[in-house]
Amino acid sequence: MLVFDNVSKVYPGGKRAVDHLNLEIGEGEFICFIGPSGCGKTTTMKMINRLVKPSEGKILLNGKNILDQNVVELRRSIGYVIQQIGLFPHMTIRDNIALVPKLKGVSAEDRNKRAEELLDLVNMPKEFLDRFPHELSGGQQQRIGVLRALASNPPLILMDEPFGALDPITRDSLQAEFKNLQQSLGKTIIFVTHDMDEAIKLADRIVIMRAGQIVQVGSPDEILRNPADDFVRDFIGKERLAEAQQHFQTVGQIMNPDPVSIGLGATISEAVRTMRRRRVDSLLVTDDAGILRGKITIEQIDRNRDRDAAVADLMERDIGTVRADTLLRDATRNILIRGSKYVPVVDQRKRLIGIITRTNLVDVLYDSIWGEEEDEGDAAVGEAAAAPAPQAGEGS
Ligand SMILES: Nc1ncnc2c1ncn2[C@@H]1O[C@H](COP(=O)(O)OP(=O)(O)OP(=O)(O)O)[C@@H](O)[C@H]1O
Ligand SMILES: [Mg+2]
Repeated sequence: MLVFDNVSKVYPGGKRAVDHLNLEIGEGEFICFIGPSGCGKTTTMKMINRLVKPSEGKILLNGKNILDQNVVELRRSIGYVIQQIGLFPHMTIRDNIALVPKLKGVSAEDRNKRAEELLDLVNMPKEFLDRFPHELSGGQQQRIGVLRALASNPPLILMDEPFGALDPITRDSLQAEFKNLQQSLGKTIIFVTHDMDEAIKLADRIVIMRAGQIVQVGSPDEILRNPADDFVRDFIGKERLAEAQQHFQTVGQIMNPDPVSIGLGATISEAVRTMRRRRVDSLLVTDDAGILRGKITIEQIDRNRDRDAAVADLMERDIGTVRADTLLRDATRNILIRGSKYVPVVDQRKRLIGIITRTNLVDVLYDSIWGEEEDEGDAAVGEAAAAPAPQAGEGS
């Protein structure tokens, strides 16, 4: 929908506010620009509706260079919420909201209806329509600023720190409100913020800028998982990264890579010997290619006394597995729901590469509660969790 093709802005005096920016934004996307003060966020935004003219490069809106479009029409077709609200103090809330529809020649009656409709969207009463901006709280003014941008139903909305001046509680509720609104209305939003939490909460993709350049673009998950460099890492903050790492811990990071297994063709007596030797009460069964075929437990063997039978005849074939790249939180759910003591880990070709046990999970849980660096706490945890053998000593 919107393409930045090598766009730069050099202000008089030679300041390169935006430096060779390349970015494609899809329809319906919620994009957050974030970066330190002065890195070029507002400038980037203002180039889209031609409040600032690019010095180099092209900006395409729906395939058309914005410089080839009528500037007035262009601006009216793009909603804009500016830094510091920007309501007109001498106009009522009604007139503020319906400004663009009025400029577009919409009748007073329809404008009024639209203003009421919009106010309803953010749960504000009709009575506000006849007030002036100074008779509203900061948060209420900010809502009106957002409504004004929505008033003529533009597909694209630019928002420059729209919630910047709000207290955390009001901001939280406005963010949630706005995200719902955006999803239900299907708008494309370009949103500037200083606040990483806000970006993570709202964005489909975050664009991190520094000194006029893009440092990293990605979904909140991608950026939290793989920050591009120290600047991004600093910007996200240690605490948030640590939290994210836990969030994104994978099965592969904590699995036991040496599961006790036996071949498909082995006999029951061989299975019993292996169990004794390795001190486990169940074995995973694999074929010659290492592919997981099933599981055999001491209970199953107990019930069937024929020691010469093949493992393949007795084993349980229908067992749940996880992949090494499965997020731990999802695997945890899997283990808890099945009530099993462990889950085998397989690769794309279903080859057995490890197991993840309840003990593994308990260790992680302890670490996340008490932290890894406190040695004393760790020692105590070690004792408590060391009891069961890796492959679920007491059966499955
Ligand atoms: N009209 C102007 N003339 C000259 N320099 C300007 C002008 N407007 C902005 N700049 C400079 O361009 C750079 C980028 O400014 P911009 O307003 O885009 O930053 P920003 O990322 O929005 O910052 P903030 O987070 O503080 O709003 C800054 O160094 C700023 O001083
Ligand atoms: Mg700015």
